[in-house]
Amino acid sequence: MDKDNDLVIRPMKRHEFDLALVWAAREGWNPGLHDADAFYNSDPTGHFVALLSKVPVGCISAVAYGDTFGFIGLYIVKPEHRGKGYGIKLWRQALHRLERRNVGLDGVLERQQDYERDGFVYAYRNIRYELGIMKIAIPRSVVDLRKKYSIHDVAEYEKNLFPAPRILFLQKWLNPPQGVALGLEGNNGRLAGYGVIRKCIKGSKIGPLFADNLNGARELLYGLMGHAPEPPIYIDIPEANGLGIDLVKESDVSKVSETARMYNVCHPNLDLSRIYGVSTLELG
Ligand SMILES: CC(C)(COP(=O)(O)OP(=O)(O)OC[C@H]1O[C@@H](n2cnc3c(N)ncnc32)[C@H](O)[C@@H]1OP(=O)(O)O)[C@@H](O)C(=O)NCCC(=O)NCCS
Repeated sequence: MDKDNDLVIRPMKRHEFDLALVWAAREGWNPGLHDADAFYNSDPTGHFVALLSKVPVGCISAVAYGDTFGFIGLYIVKPEHRGKGYGIKLWRQALHRLERRNVGLDGVLERQQDYERDGFVYAYRNIRYELGIMKIAIPRSVVDLRKKYSIHDVAEYEKNLFPAPRILFLQKWLNPPQGVALGLEGNNGRLAGYGVIRKCIKGSKIGPLFADNLNGARELLYGLMGHAPEPPIYIDIPEANGLGIDLVKESDVSKVSETARMYNVCHPNLDLSRIYGVSTLELG
């Protein structure tokens, strides 16, 4: 019989972290094939595994972005071990690790009330859409991001689009092994948006898709579609950006799922009107 006091929670090693993505895939979250490297690199001591008699039974990510912001994701207990209090222990570990920071998460809707009891406040929904690929010429303003812009240009661009600097995440995220990162060249050559598409368990996912305006977002979306490793394409859009929703509805689109973005201290002052696609639901 499982004994509660056999449970050990400790940071995951890199080679163990792949398991978290396997479990995420079983939950139907459709992670990217190479997400593990970028996720782990973001904060190597911020991913936890629960071991029962040395066997992994659950995991959670509590990624710190500096001293001010953190994000909880990949909160999973193996189905046969649920309802025994292991999840709550992982959760407490995650909150403890991120204490004194504003913490965000994208919760499945069934869990929203649980998180509210712990002080998390609903901000908006992120809606996942499945898109058909449109065969459209890639606009000339869309360029290979890493060839034209530095990681610091990207960090500067997304200052009001993500609650804290995330250079460690970007280092890997902008170089997807099966995918591409594209930039939008604006006036005077400055960066006016960027987006990433990567191969996932099923199809491909776009995230983030950041742009100064609707036309820019459309050009980047077409560019990313043109580089899709495989159809169909998925994208998570903050419901608060109505133009973003309208944009994907220009193609053959269907709604897949939705999550609740929540924060426990305050809603960061992000420019949602420029967020046409969330980077990831697992790391923010
Ligand atoms: C969510 C999950 C990790 C909880 O793990 P668990 O080991 O079953 O949870 P516990 O036994 O510790 O929880 C006991 C109760 O505490 C509550 N609880 C669980 N997590 C909680 C949290 N983070 N905050 C507050 N309450 C919580 C719930 O009411 C739960 O009751 P329930 O089993 O009837 O839902 C698990 O159900 C799971 O893996 N679900 C599928 C993946 C998923 O949806 N993850 C959450 C994504 S946002």
